[in-house]
Amino acid sequence: MSGIVGYLGTKDAVSVLFEGLKTLEYHGYDSVGVAFLNDAALRVYKKADKIAVLEDELNSIEYHSQIGIGHIRLATHGSPVDVNAHPHSDCTGKFAVVHNGIIENSHELRSQLERKGHHFVSDTDSEVLAHLVEDAYEGDLLAALRKALEPVRGSYALVLISEYQPDCLVAARKNNPIIVGLGEGEYFLASDLPALLPFTRDVYFIDEGEFVEITPNNVQVIDSDGNPVAKEVFHVDWDVSVAERGGYPHFMLKEIHEQPQILRNTLGSRIKPSGDDIILNDIKLTPDEIRSFSKIVITACGTSYHAGLVGKHLLEKWARIPVEVELASEFRYRDPLLDPSTLVIVISQSGETSDTLAALKEAREKGCRILAITNVVDSTITRESDEVIYTWAGQEISIASTKAYTAQLLVMYLLALLFAKERGTMTQDEIAVITSALQQVPGWIEEILEQEESLREIAGHYHNCNDFFYLGRGLDYAVAMEGALKLKETSYVHAEAYAAGELKHGPLALITEGVPVVALATQEDLLEKLVSNVRGVKTRGGAVVGVSLGQSDLVDETCDHVFRLPKAPSFVGPLLSVVALQLFAYYMSCARGCDVDMPRNLTKSVTVE
Ligand code: G6P
Repeated sequence: MSGIVGYLGTKDAVSVLFEGLKTLEYHGYDSVGVAFLNDAALRVYKKADKIAVLEDELNSIEYHSQIGIGHIRLATHGSPVDVNAHPHSDCTGKFAVVHNGIIENSHELRSQLERKGHHFVSDTDSEVLAHLVEDAYEGDLLAALRKALEPVRGSYALVLISEYQPDCLVAARKNNPIIVGLGEGEYFLASDLPALLPFTRDVYFIDEGEFVEITPNNVQVIDSDGNPVAKEVFHVDWDVSVAERGGYPHFMLKEIHEQPQILRNTLGSRIKPSGDDIILNDIKLTPDEIRSFSKIVITACGTSYHAGLVGKHLLEKWARIPVEVELASEFRYRDPLLDPSTLVIVISQSGETSDTLAALKEAREKGCRILAITNVVDSTITRESDEVIYTWAGQEISIASTKAYTAQLLVMYLLALLFAKERGTMTQDEIAVITSALQQVPGWIEEILEQEESLREIAGHYHNCNDFFYLGRGLDYAVAMEGALKLKETSYVHAEAYAAGELKHGPLALITEGVPVVALATQEDLLEKLVSNVRGVKTRGGAVVGVSLGQSDLVDETCDHVFRLPKAPSFVGPLLSVVALQLFAYYMSCARGCDVDMPRNLTKSVTVE
């Protein structure tokens, strides 16, 4: 998640931009840039470096500015180098734009613009916006922005300035926040509240599809049809730390709530609009190479390992290729049986985990092709791998991983579909059925988030229990492992995941009166078997929390508490049930008074063995 700041007023715009951007450093970023009008001439300065470095550079330059835009970038499309930093300009250098979000059809738009003679300098999706505005401009910046955005698919919060209208800032929003700050004779724009709080506490929240035009004495907001919108001033009384968490009490809850938007961004740009094809432009594996692998080995640690377990099910079922999943800390010392026909997939949110990196090196020595799935551009693991797919989840601050996990899961779904297509194990129609369900996942997660109160109540009921079991079969077993890990990490509760069929081979001895068991029941074809295992728990007095897809009489009849996910196909079960388990762990942690975002003894990135 990158950060945007804009300013129009009487102060030195560049100082305001830097002050605002510094409040967003907690987002994590790799590049910074500003554009401003220096006596009506547009100047752009940007760098793949810290804010303070660019600030120092500008301190040594003469300029005068009262209007400008600034940005910090966490790389997604294109590596973190100067030229990929925002603001981006058009061919004439008369326009500059900063953008948060993803332009899904940027490749198509870029080709069209190049055919018309536009020259691109960066690898970013955002640069198309500047060129589209250049084409659309006929004397009115707001009208040009509206016209420029007509062919654009994707998500954006963006702010634009131009030499042609040196007293005007325009902005637009779709699926990414933008906020206007109201000062005395000055106006601010920002993607996040903390950037406005040093200057003002009176703001307009811009809604979906709205456009903003700021001139020295006026803020005009219009809707997508061009009708004026009367905005109400919102007075912010949050302190900075609450604002950083977007008003949520903890980063973990904020990050859980960010999941629909993150998945929407990924789906939009990685599934063809026709739904029957997957676009993973990041990897260069040819169809022949994809067909030539004899097996896949997935290796990772912690939550990323659990994403690999789901990936195994999907790849084996859809692409009919054997997949082994192994903890990186074991794999590295096992002298594994690998050869150049094995594809090794390493999954790592941080891209820096020492065991995962060592496993990668082991695989490389054995001549394997390495594909990394990571969230951090240019991390060590990405540099050491042949292929990288980024998860685009933005910086994750809470130690317990939530949004990075669902983003990893989604990449595993897309990769399995790509392999199925290239290996001829699924038809395009079959792929389209799955992608159509995947596209509904963000909406289904929003429905789960709307019911979070009931998970808080269930957590309230069990918060004094110190031992939990998580049961599931098939894909549910993989998610049960992640659910149990979340509870351990956040709430310091002993939690064990079992394949439900294994219960009778030992763990049943531990089920006595009131022992809580979370039973995942999203796999339709295994439901009866799962319920019979749950009955075994009930007979011994266990207390069962069932998680079902839609309403299920079987689950309702056997469980003490039931959390109903939206009715969806079983194969998307992991993407939905895990959100319920994340919320359950979160509310357990709150109820037990734990340090939700910084659990004891744990770190976000484990760079030691
Ligand atoms: C640490 C984190 C976990 C994470 C694991 C692997 O233990 O606390 O949340 O799953 O490392 O990290 P990676 O960055 O490689 O995914």
